[in-house]
Amino acid sequence: MDTDTLKRLAAEAALDYIKPGMVVGVGTGSTSNHFIDALGKAKIAVDGYVPSSLGTAARLQALGLRVLELNDTGDIPIYVDGADEIDPHFRLIKGGGGALTREKIVASAAHRFLVIADQSKDRQQLGKFPLAVEVIPFAQSFVARQLVKLGGNPTLRQHFTTDNGNVILDVIGLDLTDPLAMESKINSIPGVLDNGIFALRRADIVLLGSPDGVLRRSNASQ
Ligand code: A5P
Repeated sequence: MDTDTLKRLAAEAALDYIKPGMVVGVGTGSTSNHFIDALGKAKIAVDGYVPSSLGTAARLQALGLRVLELNDTGDIPIYVDGADEIDPHFRLIKGGGGALTREKIVASAAHRFLVIADQSKDRQQLGKFPLAVEVIPFAQSFVARQLVKLGGNPTLRQHFTTDNGNVILDVIGLDLTDPLAMESKINSIPGVLDNGIFALRRADIVLLGSPDGVLRRSNASQ
């Protein structure tokens, strides 16, 4: 089975968690797009969807699905999104699509954070995938120098502006053996809006598409 099929299988399995009357947070990326397509077909009578990016909002609307503003909903029962890396402690790297800041906000507003991915995203340790850092353009060079001091090698993502009007620095070489510490260290640099380490807000449930079916993992409280 190819990767895209495995992503689709995981996305379709997430439908089991979506119940009528819910407000559902919806992530960004190719796996989330499969989830949106599955929602379009399933036509579950939810209250509406909170998108984590303008792209996701447009895709939901194109299928006639009701889009809500996070500012109008309060906390939401569930957020479903993809990931670039997932470790055994449910910590994640996200942001390959550049939507990490809004993704982290919606994930943090959700009681349950469900990650959907193909099994290639399953890692013993985070840090191979470049870490996306969203930066206010004014601070780009300053932040890049601080990231070098932390052991990283940042590159400006070319021809890319986030939904919040900022730039992305993709960083390789950082030591992510303590993801929680690195998440907060990077976020304490003035000019950084957020970064793609999801350690403070980890996943609660992970659905991994594999040739043997969808593997389900949940942390102790779920
Ligand atoms: C978007 O900014 C990302 O966090 C995505 O959720 C992540 O990159 C996974 O993307 P795919 O589902 O396309 O692999």
